[in-house]
Amino acid sequence: MAKIQKVLILGAGTMGQQIGYQCAACGLDVTLFDMSEEALKKALVTMPKIGKTMVTGGRISKEAAEGAMERVRICTDAREAGKDADLISESIPEDPKLKSKVFASFNGICPDHTIFTTNTSTLLPSMIAAQTGRPDRFAALHFHDVRVTNVVDIMPHPGTSKETLEAIREFVVRIDQYPIELKKEQPGYVFNTMLSQLFASAMTLASREVASIEDIDRAWMGIMQTPVGPFGIMDSIGLETVWKVTDYWANATKDPQSRQNGDFVKRFVDAGDLGVKSGKGFYSYPNPAFFSPDFMKGIK
Ligand SMILES: NC(=O)c1ccc[n+]([C@@H]2O[C@H](COP(=O)([O-])OP(=O)(O)OC[C@H]3O[C@@H](n4cnc5c(N)ncnc54)[C@H](O)[C@@H]3O)[C@@H](O)[C@H]2O)c1
Repeated sequence: MAKIQKVLILGAGTMGQQIGYQCAACGLDVTLFDMSEEALKKALVTMPKIGKTMVTGGRISKEAAEGAMERVRICTDAREAGKDADLISESIPEDPKLKSKVFASFNGICPDHTIFTTNTSTLLPSMIAAQTGRPDRFAALHFHDVRVTNVVDIMPHPGTSKETLEAIREFVVRIDQYPIELKKEQPGYVFNTMLSQLFASAMTLASREVASIEDIDRAWMGIMQTPVGPFGIMDSIGLETVWKVTDYWANATKDPQSRQNGDFVKRFVDAGDLGVKSGKGFYSYPNPAFFSPDFMKGIK
């Protein structure tokens, strides 16, 4: 397969901007496509700011940031956007019907060699593989927040070709990301699968009143030597999201402990305590107790 040089980003929102910026900073030609012209214009303002954050955080060099935006163009014309793309990275809303429709239309526009990837958080690639019109050249390629991490999941479906996987892996390395390859598809990527188990265990301990929220976090922080524990992480994700995911699995599995965990988080959500974004969750912000040096000594 030819080397990937032209990347088409579908959806210029939160993730499309980050992925597009990362590709451009690594020397690739990037086209941002969105149905909203306003979103595209906004992306051109936000992307240089993403670059600044990444330079400050040591994620990319100053030189890489300097030329990045010259390689980014915006487009609302699907034909123009797709005609010479080597790879599509899709970040439109998490709706399988919408993603299927958009991929199907680009299948009629893009050259044969174009590889299609989706940044879906929760869908299995096989749910939309047939609808893309090129299932052998399709897989999930899932980014985390590129401003802070370079870990990327590659999740094939049973029909993804070996050549496609190899080309995606090469692309991931080329854009200075670290590929985590799932050998088969499953609900949840590698880190997310482990993190959800950690959250479930922490909530089980707290909802059964085995240990306090603070002590559960202290146990994790003290042994793993991390600046934050599971409840602090849940606060930064947002307790509404944590509750929705917990509730989804409680309904799907009918597991009584998952239901108890869901109810436990729901009490915080109902009280308006949504985590960092509302100023209060399991802890109070902007200065949560676990920031204090006394926290690990157990002093309240
Ligand atoms: N936000 C995250 O932290 C995160 C992390 C990993 C993966 N994801 C996944 O990435 C995808 C996008 O998430 P996001 O947070 O960037 O969403 P977002 O809402 O910030 O951006 C979505 C963009 O898609 C555009 N869009 C909608 N319909 C379109 C269409 N038919 N054609 C072209 N553009 C269209 C919207 O105008 C918007 O600009 C989702 O599948 C999500 O699950 C999100």
